Amino acid sequence: MKQILFVLLLINAAFVFSQNPLLIPPVLYGPEFNLNVQNGTVEFIPGIVTPTYGINGDILGPTLMVNEGDVITVNVTNNLTGTGNSTTMHWHGFHLSAEDDGGPHQIIEQGATWSPSWEVMNDAATLWYHPHGDGKTDLQVARGLAGFFIVRDMEETLLDLPRSYGIDDIPLAIQTKAFDVLNQIAIATEMDTLPMVNATVDPYIELPAQVIRLRLLNGASMRTFYIGFTNDMPFYVIAGDGGLLSEPVEHTRLILPPGERYEILIDLSGMEGQSLMMRSFASEFPDGIYGAANPSGMGMGTIMGYDANPLNGADFDLLQITVGAPTASPVTAIPASLIAPKTIPAYTNTRYFTLEPETMGMDNMVMGPFVINGVSFNMDVINEVVPINTIEKWRITNNTHISHPFHIHEGQFLIDNINGMAPDAVDAAFQDVVFIPPGQFAEVIKTFEDFADDMVPYMYHCHMLHHEDDGMMGSFTVVAQDAVVDPELANCQIYPNPAASGASLILSSTVPMDAWRLYNTLGEMISTAQVTGSTATQIRLPELPAGAYYIAVSVGEYTAMLPLVLQ
Ligand code: C2O
Ligand code: CU
Ligand code: CU
Repeated sequence: MKQILFVLLLINAAFVFSQNPLLIPPVLYGPEFNLNVQNGTVEFIPGIVTPTYGINGDILGPTLMVNEGDVITVNVTNNLTGTGNSTTMHWHGFHLSAEDDGGPHQIIEQGATWSPSWEVMNDAATLWYHPHGDGKTDLQVARGLAGFFIVRDMEETLLDLPRSYGIDDIPLAIQTKAFDVLNQIAIATEMDTLPMVNATVDPYIELPAQVIRLRLLNGASMRTFYIGFTNDMPFYVIAGDGGLLSEPVEHTRLILPPGERYEILIDLSGMEGQSLMMRSFASEFPDGIYGAANPSGMGMGTIMGYDANPLNGADFDLLQITVGAPTASPVTAIPASLIAPKTIPAYTNTRYFTLEPETMGMDNMVMGPFVINGVSFNMDVINEVVPINTIEKWRITNNTHISHPFHIHEGQFLIDNINGMAPDAVDAAFQDVVFIPPGQFAEVIKTFEDFADDMVPYMYHCHMLHHEDDGMMGSFTVVAQDAVVDPELANCQIYPNPAASGASLILSSTVPMDAWRLYNTLGEMISTAQVTGSTATQIRLPELPAGAYYIAVSVGEYTAMLPLVLQ
């Protein structure tokens, strides 16, 4: 098997790609947008026509340009052919209602049009859109469905920043794709050997000799990029996923995990006639990142087939930049400051999430499939219920050997800490993805407001699309305050209580229960199980230290907390 892969690689490497002009997605202005999801073809490999999916074209989608405060409507029509090709369209990073969010529950059947409408409440930012069907995200994104959403607001407009789209303000969707022997785009393989930017292989762009804004998006299925430029040219990070930083942060490298966006400025002043390369310096990655030489951060476990991909642990080119003449009114300086710094608000509740392999075993610690809080994604289950108008801390613990980019829908959050330490300065802006190294935890602070819905959930998940499709996703509703406690749950009982460690308990209720979870007083989940609608279930406790615990019982959207004492 290894040998066959090696031969294929040689064939791949034998192709000499010509330099291709970078595709700049066309811009659409609202307030009404029409997105046609359709089949297409692209010649990624010269002379070979590969079937793709695109939005209003062969691949990717138009950039939708909106202002904060606009009320917009997006008509998404599913014109995909093939059997069972329903889709969804998710507005990644937007603060909007769950039913307009375009998660797995807002299915767009073939031939149908879905028309969500919402007010843009986000700050100026680089957001994006992509399909999110249950088990379908990776394939549909890999085949080409993704586009930028650029939000502008007053604060951003008042800054002296480049904003001529396609001239000095450039969207860059960075991806790698895998191809099977028939040159079809493949997923669930480690052979994503072909890097591309805006679906352009081996791209170049001519940029004017002045300050340039690059809006970086990692739209890859799995791979994290380590962005930098030849000669270690410094660049200035001005925005994270959901908005501007308080001041530019100078760096020569930037970790760009799947799903994330950063806006950076590069200063090409005086460089007319020169050329430089944006690259991924993945040879410099620490262990434990998909794309590093070793995807396991704890020395143990591997991913089958991973070593055969020449991109892993290697530096590779992303975009060649040739510097041309400056424009008539260039931005010539990196601004000293941007917007007021975000301050982390006080929170009233902490919620705990554990990322772990579905089944134990060293390779499973790196390969998955992975679950969150012990369970795999289920369309019909609401995993968490959040009362509206609250601020919560979500503590996400990565009990696997590989880093995961954890994404939360409903809008933006602030990263309080990674494993107890302040995040890098580039992560002080609003974020909707947090990258959690193996064995570490992240604590993010998120406000839940404006949109309550007892029935339709938002998602949280790993943004490595194969992990997501494999079940590394959960759902939460944001509900009106009085919907949170159902008095009937008062009839839930545990017997015996107090109990001995290792004992077997009976959990009963007058209403059918969905699931229970056992927590310690730190709020760490110890075990969980689905009850699936019965009114009594047996819980066999593991050996645990004596002390106080509690069992959370969920019935539909309600949760009851039952104290439990172990002797
Ligand atoms: Cu960009 Cu739930 O995803
Ligand atoms: Cu999202
Ligand atoms: Cu993951």
